[in-house]
Amino acid sequence: MAMQPWFSEAKFGIFLHWGIYAVDGVQESWSFFEGDVPHDRYMAQLGGFTAARYQPREWAALFARAGARYAVLTSRHHDGVALWDTAHGDLDVVRRTPAGRDLVGPYADALREHGLRVGLYYSHSDWNHPDYASLRHEGRPGWARFNPYAEAHEGQEDPAAWDRYLAYRDGQVGELARRFRPDLLWFDGEWERTEEQWRIRELAGLIRAELPECVLNARMLGEGDYATPEQGVPIDAPDGPWELCLTVNDSWGHRHHDDNHKSTTQLVRYLAETIGAGGNLLLAVGPREDGTLPAEQVERLEGIGAWIAAHSEAVYGTVAGLPPGHHYGPSTRSADARTLYLTLFDIPRGPVGVRGLRTPVRRVSVLGTGAELGHRVTGGLHEVPGVLWIDPPPAADLDAHATVLAVELDGELDLYRGAGRS
Ligand code: GLC
Repeated sequence: MAMQPWFSEAKFGIFLHWGIYAVDGVQESWSFFEGDVPHDRYMAQLGGFTAARYQPREWAALFARAGARYAVLTSRHHDGVALWDTAHGDLDVVRRTPAGRDLVGPYADALREHGLRVGLYYSHSDWNHPDYASLRHEGRPGWARFNPYAEAHEGQEDPAAWDRYLAYRDGQVGELARRFRPDLLWFDGEWERTEEQWRIRELAGLIRAELPECVLNARMLGEGDYATPEQGVPIDAPDGPWELCLTVNDSWGHRHHDDNHKSTTQLVRYLAETIGAGGNLLLAVGPREDGTLPAEQVERLEGIGAWIAAHSEAVYGTVAGLPPGHHYGPSTRSADARTLYLTLFDIPRGPVGVRGLRTPVRRVSVLGTGAELGHRVTGGLHEVPGVLWIDPPPAADLDAHATVLAVELDGELDLYRGAGRS
């Protein structure tokens, strides 16, 4: 399927890991799987998950102010706890927690009211489902102490149990598709089985019969629409559409003691580097069990939103900018290839140089303040273009996080990438 244009144009989304793990602030699902927390204590968090101050409209309004165009909520993580009243299995927040209601529908409605696209995360694996355990996995030290069933080797599965598991998964994904009509389904947990075991093609068929335009991430294996690098901007961008998922601190979900938040400046940098290389940034924040977001995270979303608002022309509707080497920093370019947006993270000590630009420059200005900057070309010979030197912006025109220069070209961007005369 060709990528939906809304996804490539969105640039920024919010990832929400919300589940019972926020009660004690333990790692989502992994904490019992890896034996950091006994399974019964992990599951006892069901009794403390209230969603008492869940205001999805406030989330949606905040995300819109942050400049995000979509959000992705964990409808069911590897721990198997569904955030909606599923008819498949008996592990959901409606029946098993004090929250006592569907949390997915109000989220989807609130996002749509604010013009945001709706994404739902769903884990292929479910470490709590009785039929997921189709093989006892022995003896990997320090791993899988609670659930020894992470893998299924050929010839050792229980096929009837596996069929039941897939029927459960298809049932749940069908519910998500029909009831909440997501624009994006963000799968995860694919590594424990093969594409054939997951019956990925059938699953994609089921989704697309209901939602022909639904975007699927790469953890849908052969049926995925885009790559999902995690926690670090790739040095070489993946081919095709992609999205970096990144935690605002060191955790996907809410952990009370994790105060290792990236600064707003650092997050703006991640965003600029990601979109400059043609990707989207999916930034993860972790709501508390009651549905509120920690102040440090709200503050960062507001900060990113203010930066995007002042530089929106360089963000939305742009594509990847100059390949590395032409300019010391990321850049984007307009869809018509007639404007380049150069990001400056540091305060320039002298003129800003751009190499390999064949297209003449008409005008350079500071995005957001409008200040026009002088520019000239030095050097060059025959087909080798000279260096474009842009006067450094006055101090008053520098942005606290990252300054963007709009370089208006006299024609479509044409780059010289050769090595000159041999
Ligand atoms: C990893 C983790 C999972 C998290 C995901 C987000 O796959 O297993 O806990 O939800 O990353 O990308």
